[in-house]
Amino acid sequence: MHDVMEPDSSRRRALVQRFAVAARTAGYGEVVPPLLEDLGVFLRVGETTDVVTKEMYDFVDKDGSRIALRPEITAGVVRAFVQHRPALPWKVWYAGTNFRHERAQKGRYRMFDQVGVEVLGVDDPDLDVEVIALAARFFESLGLCQVELSVNSLGDHGDRSRYSDAVRVYLESRRGELSEAAQTTLERNPLRVLDAKRPSDRAVVADAPRISTFLSDASAAHYERVLSGLDAVGVDHVGAPLLVRGLDYYRRTTFEFAATALDAAQNAVGGGGRYDGLAEDLGGPPTDGIGFALGVDRILLACDAEEVFDAAEMSIDAFVVDVVDGIAARDITHELRAAGVAVDRRFGGGSMKSQMKSAGRSGARWALIVGEDEAADREVTLRSLLDRDDQRRVPRSSLVAAMRDLLDVAAPPARSTPADPLAPPAAGSSTPDTPRTPT
Ligand code: HAM
Repeated sequence: MHDVMEPDSSRRRALVQRFAVAARTAGYGEVVPPLLEDLGVFLRVGETTDVVTKEMYDFVDKDGSRIALRPEITAGVVRAFVQHRPALPWKVWYAGTNFRHERAQKGRYRMFDQVGVEVLGVDDPDLDVEVIALAARFFESLGLCQVELSVNSLGDHGDRSRYSDAVRVYLESRRGELSEAAQTTLERNPLRVLDAKRPSDRAVVADAPRISTFLSDASAAHYERVLSGLDAVGVDHVGAPLLVRGLDYYRRTTFEFAATALDAAQNAVGGGGRYDGLAEDLGGPPTDGIGFALGVDRILLACDAEEVFDAAEMSIDAFVVDVVDGIAARDITHELRAAGVAVDRRFGGGSMKSQMKSAGRSGARWALIVGEDEAADREVTLRSLLDRDDQRRVPRSSLVAAMRDLLDVAAPPARSTPADPLAPPAAGSSTPDTPRTPT
């Protein structure tokens, strides 16, 4: 687990904000499920997976119930659907933290963030295309060029279990060539062996039966329509007949995005697929479902590798330099912030030289100087920190108007205006949520 500080924290926030806009633009509303769920919610989605059996942080709560920190968000979203039964189709996006007790290394953490979407109640393969394209376009919007999309179909419940049997028979026939770990996985879940990473296991897996020959006509037609849809909307993809994914609930369309600029072991930057039986498994009516989750931490590593979506230095509009008694600094910061101007100051006074140094370090565009002269004349000197020759003095009473003019800041909205987190920020305004410097 790691601490995230500026400028990375602003960069993360900008990424989530961008994802939120992309999802909202496609008609997805936000869902915020709890970080904790009843352990049973996760047991039902992955009883044979490492994520659930080995990596979950679970504990007995004060009332004796078994609780888990979520290792992923899909199960909680589907549990919420079963509990609240919103109108279908239910299209939601989320951003949040997950916990997996993994062997930590670069790109693989025990606490990590995901952004994602889920859609309940639609069987149409064109939705699969919409969902996959949303993720692909999001990567593009960050400037990432080296992201590869692999797609597969695991078939419906019947296809999948017939395929699983065939894979078991095949792997049993070559059991002696498999590593001990793969042999153990084979006992519990033969399909998971297809995801083995050891070269010796991969050599065996390479000759395993392919799912395509086990797909029913309906599953094959669904998959065909997904592939042709991806072609039609211009989303590059490669067929990956051995792609199984790390959770149990997948049916039919599955997909994964790999950032090829990263090391192969940790280059999955996102994945998802259909989970048409999950709502029923969690006690709801049979309901189709599909979604994806993208790993924020890994996406940012991929951005570093491709040198895109830079971290923005935190910047502010103005810094008050008060070398009198601090009263002007106290009052001006309050007035300007209320007017939508991002402004900071130094506490504890200090010489003009040292306060100007602080102003320079803050990244502010303007120093607002109040010395003895200015205080006597009830004025403020505005000195540009970007252009040495730009300096002017304005009456203290018109400082807010002058700053608004200089920065082109719109008047702040009336207090009763409903919050719209996705509305573009007022030109020139800068808050921690909407860093002014483009990322
Ligand atoms: P997942 O493949 O387990 O799928 O995780 C999705 C993404 O989360 C991965 O591709 C990776 O980028 C990131 N991730 C996973 N584990 C770690 C980790 N330990 N450290 C850093 N990043 C990590 C799911 O979670 C499914 N819920 C996706 C889904 C949504 N399927 C349908 N709907």
